[in-house]
Amino acid sequence: MERSSSSSLKRPIVGVILGNKRFSTNGIHRYPRLKRLVEANKEANTTLIFFTCDDVDLSRRKVSGIYFNESSNIWERDRFPLPDVIYVRGGRGKEIRDLLEQFERLGVKKINPIHAFNKGELYEQLNHDDKVRPFLPQTKNVENMEEIKRTVQKLGTVYVKARRGRKGTKVMRIEKRPGDSYVYSYSVLGRLVRKKVNSMGNLEKAVKGFFGDREVIVQKAIDLVTISSNRLVDFRAELQRDKQGNIDIVGICVRIGRKNAPITTHSEAFRYDDYLKKLFPGYSNQKINVLKNKIKAFLIDVYTGVEKKYGKFGEIGIDFAVDKKGKLWLIECNAQSAKVSIVKAYGTKARKAFLNPLEYAKKIANTSTNRSQSANRSRLLSRSSL
Ligand SMILES: Nc1ncnc2c1ncn2[C@@H]1O[C@H](COP(=O)(O)OP(=O)(O)O)[C@@H](O)[C@H]1O
Ligand SMILES: [Mg+2]
Repeated sequence: MERSSSSSLKRPIVGVILGNKRFSTNGIHRYPRLKRLVEANKEANTTLIFFTCDDVDLSRRKVSGIYFNESSNIWERDRFPLPDVIYVRGGRGKEIRDLLEQFERLGVKKINPIHAFNKGELYEQLNHDDKVRPFLPQTKNVENMEEIKRTVQKLGTVYVKARRGRKGTKVMRIEKRPGDSYVYSYSVLGRLVRKKVNSMGNLEKAVKGFFGDREVIVQKAIDLVTISSNRLVDFRAELQRDKQGNIDIVGICVRIGRKNAPITTHSEAFRYDDYLKKLFPGYSNQKINVLKNKIKAFLIDVYTGVEKKYGKFGEIGIDFAVDKKGKLWLIECNAQSAKVSIVKAYGTKARKAFLNPLEYAKKIANTSTNRSQSANRSRLLSRSSL
């Protein structure tokens, strides 16, 4: 039976985009946290489907989607009408950009207005926001190798990051040492590379080799708190809009990197409530509470600051740091949080992080603008099928 012909489909249809290339139904097991979304959907009660760019047939207004069949307890594939709301969890390049543009034209709603932040652009935008600017580490959008070299000389220890990087894969730390020597380090999928070079020329080779011709930013290193044997500590907060559309700080995690690693990504994560006291043993309970309140206010300022520039978000994963002096810094914002840390730190209590986007999808699917947009959508579609 084709699902698209069934009038019994629950609305909204929430379409989760997982990537560019089509894969078999069995391939869904590569995405371990999707099951959490399916679980949450028992409460949200939407029609929840998963697909890739290749699965969308815009001319026929159909999507070949994978869904979890609760009665047979297996993943199945079927054809569905175009979704009412899109939730982007993967995909890259022109293919996803074009598809999202088409969905936009057709009035399909989105959980987030953009599918990925450009780190350089985000910095430029937030640097104009008086509330957020004090939390931004010194950052330069560099255009060429000469600028990278100058910025390293000027700022000392820095992070060079691809403007469109994710998961710590395109992040290099450079420490300036006495004379003309430098220690650079990066960590790709758990493999740590840490080397010393004795000239700017050799550093240049390493940077070029790692980043190729990608556009990068250079950011002053935050003096991150460390624990046992040089393990760096930073934070990831998951902020989402709930069913009423209010901003909800769903969870804040402390992330602890591997020994000597320049990034904390994909290592250990704990709830910040339990952990702050360990990080700042000299703080009284009152001082810890003041810090927690500062963190919450900062997160809301960042969320609303981002929305002022980009539009309304259903969720943002915010990477931030508390430095050794207790000062807060924004590291970056993520438009597609993989929710790795919150699941590690909160276990089953992370349920809300999967429920909120579905409830928010229901809210935005029902707004009046959506009705006029769907009218627009039918018009466009009838035109395109002429
Ligand atoms: N300016 C900085 N100072 C200290 N650590 C940083 C800085 N920038 C990045 N890092 C470390 O590198 C990690 C990855 O950087 P991030 O900007 O979040 O890129 P990605 O998109 O790859 O996650 C951060 O979580 C943090 O541990
Ligand atoms: Mg990050």
